[in-house]
Amino acid sequence: MKLQKLTPEAVDGKVVVVRTDYNVPLKNGVVVETTRIEESIPTLKFLLENGAKKIHILTHVGRPGGEVVPELSTKQILPSLEKFLGAAVEFRPDYSSGTERVQLHENCRFYPGEKKNDPLLAEEIFKNLHPDIFVLDGFGVAHRGQASVIGLADKVPCYPGFLLEKEIEALSPFLSQEKIPGLTILTGGVKMETKIPVLMHFARTAENILIGGALANTFQVAKGFGIGASLYEEEFVETAREVLAEAEKHRTGVHLPIDVVCADDLESTEAIDVPLEDVSGDMKIFDIGPHTVASFSEILMHSRNIIWNGPLGVIEKKPFAQGTYRMLEVIRKCKSTKTILGGGDTLKALKKWNVAPSEFSHVSTGGGAMLEFLAGDTLPGIEILKSERAGK
Ligand code: 3PG
Repeated sequence: MKLQKLTPEAVDGKVVVVRTDYNVPLKNGVVVETTRIEESIPTLKFLLENGAKKIHILTHVGRPGGEVVPELSTKQILPSLEKFLGAAVEFRPDYSSGTERVQLHENCRFYPGEKKNDPLLAEEIFKNLHPDIFVLDGFGVAHRGQASVIGLADKVPCYPGFLLEKEIEALSPFLSQEKIPGLTILTGGVKMETKIPVLMHFARTAENILIGGALANTFQVAKGFGIGASLYEEEFVETAREVLAEAEKHRTGVHLPIDVVCADDLESTEAIDVPLEDVSGDMKIFDIGPHTVASFSEILMHSRNIIWNGPLGVIEKKPFAQGTYRMLEVIRKCKSTKTILGGGDTLKALKKWNVAPSEFSHVSTGGGAMLEFLAGDTLPGIEILKSERAGK
């Protein structure tokens, strides 16, 4: 995938609008997970060091739905951004231009026109900020055809930031339509909908797919197993069967938990490990069991490439966090394996157990964007960078 390069000449003396993805977890107004902010720094520093006249940073936090929601103000990002950038950043409550060289604007999703990519909003941004170029560095939003992502594309030259480039480079080898030797996908979490296309893709090209979390429950039902009163998605049982059939056709192993950690509810301190066939009645599955951990570990240790997205259990609750923790420990030890991690919940797991992203080949800042990219979908944010005007 060939995109224009952000060069010193493209930046020198220019007013730059940068779309980053600072959709980060916040607690009492403080950023608790900073990976996305830290990963945006190389591009911002490049702009500063190469003479950009003004840098306007646009980002969203959460899904305010076109309304002003003070708890989702980007102002809360400011201290972390200034700390990592090592420069003063001015907060702008709207799309007006201030005086500092670097300015962070209020949540772009406070505007009703953002989500639907209203041309009037893009025009307003353009008229207020007078950008000479646009840089997309928020890989996490590259799958959103929204005003702050693609709205300036027909007005000014567009470039990818270094984070976007890095993500594309790390993930592109897995777009292959051929079987990828030694590729294992480890996945979990809850939502089938976001994972189906990527599961379908890897049902053809991976060697093994290991599934945990509530996602696994839907597959267990598809295979005819009982899961007691556990969470699953009835409307996706048929789709799960299609994924299983596709995997069988391509000789891809799909591995589901053989034992699980169950309790009556999430607050329960009495968790029991049982073989899957013993799950019945009111029992609810909240984690993978130790035998599953052992068999998943064995497969991971013999893999050449690992892609991991989504926790295997409810990591916020101690009795149900072990499965995810053990998988993380195994992947950390796979030093000669290419290890790709992604998704907000996976980043949360790294933070929870104090594991540095640098221990892996690549930790993607994209959640949905990573899944859509790996499924081979067209991402609007990347498309604009390929279009004729990009970089012109
Ligand atoms: C993410 O967290 O995956 C990105 O910031 C995109 O957020 P969205 O799903 O609300 O568009």
